[in-house]
Amino acid sequence: MSKDKILVIGSSGQIGTELVHNLRAVYGTDNVIASDIKRTAQAKEGPFEVIDVMNAHQLGEIVTRHDVNQVYLLAALLSATAEKMPKLGWELNMQGLFNVLDLAKEKIIDRIYWPSSIAVFGPNTPRENTPQFTIMEPSTVYGISKQAGERWCEYYFKKYNVDVRSLRYPGLIGWQSAPGGGTTDYAVHIFHEALKTGTYECFLSENTTLPMMYMPDAIKATIGIMQADADKVKIRSSYNLAGFSFSPKDIALEIKKHIPEFTISYTPDSRQQIADSWPQSINATEASKDWGWKPDFDLKQMTDDMFSNLKK
Ligand code: SER
Repeated sequence: MSKDKILVIGSSGQIGTELVHNLRAVYGTDNVIASDIKRTAQAKEGPFEVIDVMNAHQLGEIVTRHDVNQVYLLAALLSATAEKMPKLGWELNMQGLFNVLDLAKEKIIDRIYWPSSIAVFGPNTPRENTPQFTIMEPSTVYGISKQAGERWCEYYFKKYNVDVRSLRYPGLIGWQSAPGGGTTDYAVHIFHEALKTGTYECFLSENTTLPMMYMPDAIKATIGIMQADADKVKIRSSYNLAGFSFSPKDIALEIKKHIPEFTISYTPDSRQQIADSWPQSINATEASKDWGWKPDFDLKQMTDDMFSNLKK
């Protein structure tokens, strides 16, 4: 029997959907409480609570009632949505984090997972093989909130001994759930459109290379850093994490190997500017060195696995 009781906030989103499945396989269904801002179909699969992460009182009540000791905080506005609602993006992304950090400061919970992003980097960051420690200067609301969040995580760790762990996710691609409001979402949409219509109109230009990762690797990294011994997790802001990098043109070529008649066109929109401010590839040496990070999937393996699952 696991002694850990886990709460996943934002559990019905792109990452949460798959993370809850995997956490339940490890810790047992009843030890993983899913929660989101509204009731979703996930409520049929196991324990579920409606939580507004901005409401510290409600959050505290649910954490206490279920005797939760670990929280995975996934509720956030992503890059493209936050540009449309900057104030809400800032408030949700920051207040949600404070509410969870404070639960750990008060020793009500003892471990936190909070995702950061490649969006913490900006136009002045070295774009290739971007190091862990470098110029950041994010230019999006989302990136600003993630960078500030990283600073606060490290601050709570140093000042209050809060055991918070974090990864800078690249664009994430999976078949079980839809992405919501990010700049890298095209890399999921393209698979669905390829199967449905045989064609895709991409909102980024053909040579826009971005760091990406297949969801099973992201889940493996997330659970991996949460299970690592505390003294191995040396970076308490957030770790660079790397899978592989590709452009819309690269993935279109890979998709054509499965669907030869597939066509793609390019109509860049406001998300192009966001993508242009982000790195093209990430150096994840620290994650490998400190707690043994290693991805399993490359572009070809991911594409093969996406098609074999989506076709089912
Ligand atoms: N996938 C995210 C986004 O596009 C990056 O963290 O916003």
